Amino acid sequence: ATNGHKQALTVRLCGPRGFCAGVDRAIQIVVAALKKYGPPVYVRHEIVHNRYVVEGLRERGAVFIEELDEIPDAHRDRPVVFSAHGVPKSVPAQAQARDLFYLDATCPLVSKVHKQAMRHQRHGRHVLLVGHAGHPEVIGTMGQLPEGTISLIETVEDAESFRPPDGAPLGYVTQTTLSVEDTAEIIRVLEARFPDLQAPAAESICYATTNRQDAVRKAAPGADLFLIVGAPNSSNSRRLVEVAERSGARRALLVQRAADLPWDEIGEIAVLGLSAGASAPEVLVEEIIDAFAARYQVSIELAVTAEENEVFPVMRALRDVELTRAD
Ligand code: F3S
Repeated sequence: ATNGHKQALTVRLCGPRGFCAGVDRAIQIVVAALKKYGPPVYVRHEIVHNRYVVEGLRERGAVFIEELDEIPDAHRDRPVVFSAHGVPKSVPAQAQARDLFYLDATCPLVSKVHKQAMRHQRHGRHVLLVGHAGHPEVIGTMGQLPEGTISLIETVEDAESFRPPDGAPLGYVTQTTLSVEDTAEIIRVLEARFPDLQAPAAESICYATTNRQDAVRKAAPGADLFLIVGAPNSSNSRRLVEVAERSGARRALLVQRAADLPWDEIGEIAVLGLSAGASAPEVLVEEIIDAFAARYQVSIELAVTAEENEVFPVMRALRDVELTRAD
């Protein structure tokens, strides 16, 4: 590249990629709350798992906290937004007990999983949640039901060894951002062991997760390197890395920003696959393409598997706030 002669590089750009409707809505809620009520607006947990988004909102007056008791009494009238991942029932209960003004940015598709878990319980079933321990969505879904009435299944091994509390009928739900293939395998194991296992009325893995995985699966064969723009704590982004590796990419990496690209390790590549997790803004994808274009003769090839039209409106309290492109 130093002699001015750039090597050719095909960038296979996946579509859909990046922001989903739930992430978009959650960010809009914080922006609209800042506009309507002024700063500070408290946000419980990273609103979406992306540092760039979080820093941008922080600069505009959002204050990120992990628990509600970090809000001082003097600020009890300030809005507090719950993140897109959802919260256990104890969180709105705590907010009500302190008379806080809260705006719940839980993705409607996560709320739907919560409702399915409660529906299983109403039918007297012990609930199995397929998901990853410690993820805020899992903490939120487990926290919809009393302790001991819901069990977490993380792996095929968990599915093989799970023992239901004495003969209770079972129903399952899953985290919304899991690997479609791995989840199908876990469910197969559970169904073989428990033929009466009840599925949720609607698929728990969301449209955005499914579509992003499909596009990566399409773009991966023959890619010398596959980059997924996303944060290390973003579940759906990490799944995309796995899908790329399994679907024929020689190597796949998660990258937060262009500045983090490990040029020394990238080596000789002719085909680069590129996608972004549901919490990664498009500017970060553009930044990566620009960084490659500075070093290679880039041509872009689209790998599109679906068109998305989902839009989730914000809650009524914020519908009168007009957001412009600049917001
Ligand atoms: Fe919702 Fe799926 Fe996005 S659950 S927040 S639409 S990744």
